[in-house]
Amino acid sequence: MDHQIRCFEAHVYGGNDLKGVITTSGSKNASFPILAASLLTEEPCFVKGVPQLRDMEIMLSLLELLGTDIQRSEEGILRLQSASLQEEKKVPDSGLIQKIRGSIYLLGALLARQRYVEMTFPGGCSIGARPIDLHIRGLEALGARVEVQKNKVIMSAPQGLRGATIFLGGPAGGSVTGTADIVMSAALAKGQTRIEYAACEPEVVELCQVLVLMGAHIEGIGSPILEIEGVDTLKGFSHTISADRIEAGTWMLMALCAGHSSHPIVIEHFPKKSLGALLFTLNEMGASWDLSGDCMQIKGGQNLKAAIVHALPYPGFPTDLQAPMAVLMTLVQDGSEIHDHIYPQRFLYVRELERMGAHLETFPSGLKVHRSQLRGTKIQATDLRASAALYMAGLTAEGVTQITEAEHIDRGYECFEEKLRHLGARIERKVIDS
Ligand code: EPU
Repeated sequence: MDHQIRCFEAHVYGGNDLKGVITTSGSKNASFPILAASLLTEEPCFVKGVPQLRDMEIMLSLLELLGTDIQRSEEGILRLQSASLQEEKKVPDSGLIQKIRGSIYLLGALLARQRYVEMTFPGGCSIGARPIDLHIRGLEALGARVEVQKNKVIMSAPQGLRGATIFLGGPAGGSVTGTADIVMSAALAKGQTRIEYAACEPEVVELCQVLVLMGAHIEGIGSPILEIEGVDTLKGFSHTISADRIEAGTWMLMALCAGHSSHPIVIEHFPKKSLGALLFTLNEMGASWDLSGDCMQIKGGQNLKAAIVHALPYPGFPTDLQAPMAVLMTLVQDGSEIHDHIYPQRFLYVRELERMGAHLETFPSGLKVHRSQLRGTKIQATDLRASAALYMAGLTAEGVTQITEAEHIDRGYECFEEKLRHLGARIERKVIDS
């Protein structure tokens, strides 16, 4: 597969009153560990609802390089079978590992499957430090011998892994990818593993549910204490990926910022149970909506109040929604604040919003947002979630906003521009020759 990134500039025209129906795609961050879990068995695994994203293409290419046979049906169901893996147990250093954070899931899955893994460090968005010390601490506790070299990690457990009690708390609480890696390894370890301070994010819960379908014994799913009784083998599974909570939350914020005041945006597949903190915050700000089952109807927000938001591990306010939230905050009463306790440096987008006329004041790990009138200008997308926020800013601004390096958006939102155009947004893409 060709992983050449096509750079483009997005031209976003402000002043649209968006309305109509938009459908949330399957979750990017739930797909990563579930695709990796297919490595834990020789049997075929069927996964429906994996979004078509650049990050997913990279993950699937990595699996193929490892020896997984992948077929996609006409209905979009992926069939993955890792009957045998490539003999050289290294994850090929093709440059793909560093393109995504999700490649870190290969660490736990391959260690469990082949008792050896060698891979370069993962990459991902520039949103601050992305260490893997918790993954290493946990897998070491399960008996892996760990060697960290300049740009890679080697783990081996020739006698197999054995259960252990692992405290997984880090400076920002649990780790999503760290918990998932350890659960995958513990599922095939000998004896019982107890993880204290497991991450409780819905993506970890969904992985655990899939592992249970595969025959794993896991107690405490969704809580910070997970108990796993290892088994000798795991079997294949069929699973449909749940709706992407961050994408759905982005549409909700987009509706409040750029939605029509009398005709709603209808958001299909809205995963309300995993967006409690966002719904609570928006309710406090005075926003209103109708929710029927998993279908949300919401109009442009008017006379909303300021808010103070703390991005925290689940069920706290998601760090992945703090940048789009900052854009909404420019439109509401003066004096909102955002504090990000997970990625204190995830504020590169501030400079870009300031170029558009936003009046913002930064402080360590946070931001004060003043009510501001945004104007279209040339700005630069810095990472995936910031890109979504900048498109949102462009839609609320006067004039045209030119977003350079807008290709970030294709990493994590399926058909982002197409979906917005369907709501009436005017967005053009200008491909930049590299
Ligand atoms: N941390 C450590 N040591 C570790 C791992 C993490 O100190 O070994 C710290 C991090 O520095 C951070 C916090 O723990 O302060 C949370 O990190 P975590 O490991 O939970 O995050 P992640 O696995 O790197 C996933 C998502 C992110 C999302 C975060 C938090 C994937 C592939 N990535 O990242 O998603 O922001 O959890 O919810 O699932 C995105 O989709 O744009 C994105 C960045």
